[in-house]
Amino acid sequence: MLHYVPLPLRRSLGRTLLALVTLRTVRIFRCALPFTPSSAEPSSSELAITCLSEGSPEFTALCRKFGARDFADRLQGGHEGFVATIGGEVVGFLWMATNSLWIEEIEYAYRLPPGEAFIYDGFVDPAFRGRGIYPALITAAVQRPRPQEFDSILIAALASNPASLRGITKAGFRECERIRYRKILGLKNWQRVTLNATA
Ligand SMILES: CC(C)(COP(=O)(O)OP(=O)(O)OC[C@H]1O[C@@H](n2cnc3c(N)ncnc32)[C@H](O)[C@@H]1OP(=O)(O)O)[C@@H](O)C(=O)NCCC(=O)NCCS
Repeated sequence: MLHYVPLPLRRSLGRTLLALVTLRTVRIFRCALPFTPSSAEPSSSELAITCLSEGSPEFTALCRKFGARDFADRLQGGHEGFVATIGGEVVGFLWMATNSLWIEEIEYAYRLPPGEAFIYDGFVDPAFRGRGIYPALITAAVQRPRPQEFDSILIAALASNPASLRGITKAGFRECERIRYRKILGLKNWQRVTLNATA
């Protein structure tokens, strides 16, 4: 039947149908504490990781380079932020939440049990990628001394993001869960699958 529909119309129909369907999988990784970092070392000995506080020189430099966004709100909400610098230049950042986390890509509010924290919104300047900065940021966030330690720390990546998946596994995390998200004609569905993680 579709055979008799002109090709341009078939293509445009296909595009319309694709736009009405979203299928995504988020893979969630965990590390239990105390944490033994993996042996992967960042390739720059000049790399420094700093925990952010509002008004600090690193916070100002981060906002200047990447835009202020809601960074101040995150700190005020109790989230921790970390920046990576090389020779004083901000080259990457990541954040850690301790209560609940909104995973934008799958429109999902992930509630954290007590004792767990969630690393999110990692980013490395494209000019500095592939040098182990992301795993170094993750390791620094996990190892930061705190008055009340966490039992474990989670981090997520879209299954379609190989660079992020690679950085996370290099940091020593093990996959523990997948969330499959479907949105078809506006109807949303989430399927959570727990995996056996030994970390
Ligand atoms: C994901 C991201 C944070 C990884 O940062 P990174 O510091 O480059 O991480 P790594 O150095 O560990 O590299 C991870 C993988 O990225 C890939 N990679 C290497 N060089 C790269 C480059 N120039 N550009 C893009 N990816 C590269 C490689 O597969 C590498 O793995 P390998 O070192 O085993 O070959 C970074 O790519 C990024 O900011 N991406 C956009 C935002 C994003 O996806 N954030 C993750 C949210 S969950």
